[in-house]
Amino acid sequence: MIMRQLREIWPMALAAMAAGTAIAAVIAIEAGVADNPSGRPVRGATLKGVAEFQAITDAGMRSRALFTEAAKVITDPRCINCHPASRSPTQGDAMHPHMPPIQAGKSGTGIAGLNCHSCHRFTNTTLPGSRVGSVPGAEHWLLAPASMAWQGLTLGEICKQLKDPARNGGRSLADIHRHMSTDHLVSWAWHPGEGRRPAPGSQEEFGALIEAWITTGAECP
Ligand code: HEC
Ligand code: HEC
Repeated sequence: MIMRQLREIWPMALAAMAAGTAIAAVIAIEAGVADNPSGRPVRGATLKGVAEFQAITDAGMRSRALFTEAAKVITDPRCINCHPASRSPTQGDAMHPHMPPIQAGKSGTGIAGLNCHSCHRFTNTTLPGSRVGSVPGAEHWLLAPASMAWQGLTLGEICKQLKDPARNGGRSLADIHRHMSTDHLVSWAWHPGEGRRPAPGSQEEFGALIEAWITTGAECP
């Protein structure tokens, strides 16, 4: 009887503990120093248009140059904080370890008791007066799978990974283009919430660069 009651109460106790941890963590973070409290752009804020690459007559060279330009977005902290080398996300423009320490696990959404949704809501949550500015949020916030890790890779390695269906979620190049131009977690990078610098250029410009990279042969630098 007592065991049965315990079994019923335990999940609730865990949930309460997680909520407590989450709130304590946000308060601790508020007291800390954000990487870019001004929220203003601090590195390459623009993207070159596809037309600027027309002068490169060799298609292979043009393709590599287009990918290198698009990679300003791909390697931006707004993207690769969610595509880390380990199963733990990183934060801010300095890509420091996530505070509090988080294990995303195989699911990408966290492990028992403390999942991403304890803190990350469906939209950015502004924290008025805090140095962090906001808790980032978007529908189904989760870490990219291990096979899609980009941190620590060269541009050439990221490019090959992106083209490899065994590692990119079974996607064709057309699927990759669609994901880059329409996925909501990708879109978040240009609407990252108070206190966070958006990814360079616009998602539309980024999508056009990826499309042109594909039509020129999807060559890797
Ligand atoms: C909140 C976390 C998060 C952010 C931010 C994020 N991603 Fe991802 N990304 C994911 C997850 C999760 C997947 C796996 C989705 C799937 O396979 O359906 C993924 C998959 C991808 C893929 C699929 C193929 C592959 O090889 O990785 C691409 C391409 C991609 N992301 C690009 C981007 C770009 C570009 C940005 C920034 C503009 C970005 N992501 C930002 C979580 C994120
Ligand atoms: C205890 C609360 C909490 C939990 C749980 C949590 N996060 Fe966070 N996360 C935050 C806060 C607060 C920030 C903003 C910190 C900042 O900007 O310095 C943040 C920032 C991030 C960022 C950085 C965004 C950027 O570009 O700077 C990523 C990526 C991220 N979290 C991913 C995750 C993932 C994936 C999970 C689940 C596996 C998760 N978080 C679980 C509180 C949490």
